[in-house]
Amino acid sequence: MDWFGVVVFSAVLAGAWSTQDLSFPPGFIFGAATASYQVEGAWNEGGKSENTWDRYVHEDPTRIKDLTNGDVACDSYHQWKRDIEMAEELGLQFYRFSLSWSRILPSGFPNIINEEGKNYYNNLIDGLLEKGIQPMVTIYHWDLPQSLQNLGGWANPLIVDWFVDYARVAYTLFGDRVKVWITINEPVVFCDGVYNSGRFAPLIYSPEVGAYLCNKYALLAHAKAWRLYDQEFKPKYHGKVSLANQMVWFEPYDSTEEHIELAELARQNSNGRYAHPIYSKAGGWPPSIEKVLEEVSLKRGYSKSSLPAFTQEEIELMRGTYDYFAMNYYTTRLIRKAREGEQFTAWPLGDCIDLNAIIEKREDWPTAESYWFYVFPEGFRRQLNWMKQQYGDMEIIITENGISTAGGLDDQERIQYYRDHLEQILLAVKEDGLNVTGYCAWTLMDNFEWGDGLAVKFGLYEVDFSDPMRKRTPRASARYYSDIISSHSLDIPIDYSGYKDTKKVQVV
Ligand SMILES: *[C@@H]1O[C@H](CO)[C@@H](O)[C@H](O)[C@H]1NC(C)=O
Repeated sequence: MDWFGVVVFSAVLAGAWSTQDLSFPPGFIFGAATASYQVEGAWNEGGKSENTWDRYVHEDPTRIKDLTNGDVACDSYHQWKRDIEMAEELGLQFYRFSLSWSRILPSGFPNIINEEGKNYYNNLIDGLLEKGIQPMVTIYHWDLPQSLQNLGGWANPLIVDWFVDYARVAYTLFGDRVKVWITINEPVVFCDGVYNSGRFAPLIYSPEVGAYLCNKYALLAHAKAWRLYDQEFKPKYHGKVSLANQMVWFEPYDSTEEHIELAELARQNSNGRYAHPIYSKAGGWPPSIEKVLEEVSLKRGYSKSSLPAFTQEEIELMRGTYDYFAMNYYTTRLIRKAREGEQFTAWPLGDCIDLNAIIEKREDWPTAESYWFYVFPEGFRRQLNWMKQQYGDMEIIITENGISTAGGLDDQERIQYYRDHLEQILLAVKEDGLNVTGYCAWTLMDNFEWGDGLAVKFGLYEVDFSDPMRKRTPRASARYYSDIISSHSLDIPIDYSGYKDTKKVQVV
């Protein structure tokens, strides 16, 4: 990895930023995140039923790179006190975690509420609050009850109401103490990522159709769950609700008009398709994507667009269903027109057959440990500005950002990644006038990283997966992050076990 290149490149940009005020605005809050299937384990304990990830990993272990699964993961179902302790050690102002649908509602429906599941989350929430740490709760993070998948999952329009029933249970059980909610995490991943690739739970390959059905019903499910909170819970609990989108930034392959237009179309396809119906003033699908997909579908012989139309009523139902913008950012891609006869790889968040487009990495972008992950901090600021330009001013909370490494406690790449990305947030706030009010690191500790299993590490804390207690140990980046939080600034004069603040040296 060419980290030196990144440092020098960022140093040049940082040099252009004259104010050099590295403090965060007053009230800006820091957190860290996890997700239920990735950390909880206890897959068949405490009354929990099977979900789609349990089914996926058990049916064929070779689906996961290192043949591991989430049966035990970080064992957070039993080690939650340690998780709270780590959040406290870091000085987090909030901890973002997700609820396991099949742990709370084993049938998938609200006819049975599992007491043990309810107690688990109550303990976690109360334990955090005792330490002054705000819980931020994601209602759904990719682990659908298998019972609902058997009925069609996210491709069945009825899931909208199934999800709203589940959200009502979550708000009812925990809403007195949870003030910040995320209905659904990264629908682009469990819709486009799953149906376009035929990989990951629930292993259904349906490009051209499945991803778009899932896209539509996930957004309607979010919107109805937002309205439910707004009408019945907000008046007494005064919390806020949003949907978390992973926003991948797309840069044109070169400066030709064709590629500049294609990059914008790719942004509308990957980000706009999950944001425009909710955040734009007009509502509905992004018009450019609606047009392209109709043309492509008719050319392929469908009777109408594969992108299912919204009724006017649905457009109104979704429009404005947010209290803030929850944004996950990791990576940037170059995008170009496919060449004659070129093969597409549909995952992850990349090549797009429907746009006849291929993604690439710019030569000077390092690759993280995850194969899909190219590092380009400036993409973060550009993405933030794009959102403002598309949807106007709003409160933005960064609900995920972080990098994968191969492991080890002296994680200089992670320190560099956090530094460079937090700097882009400061630039977006101070130079561009964006209202980013919080930042959540992904992730508190190493966990089950989906198809990459336990081999790829995103954690501020290392987890020893050979230890039955799943011992957690802070990395250099954990100390770095806790110092950022306590000083409320990126201007930290400390050397982290060999970490040199090369950027400042370069700028001088
Ligand atoms: C940012 O958003 C918060 C929450 O909505 C609001 O209280 C604050 O006034 C906003 N700040 C700016 C500078 O717009």
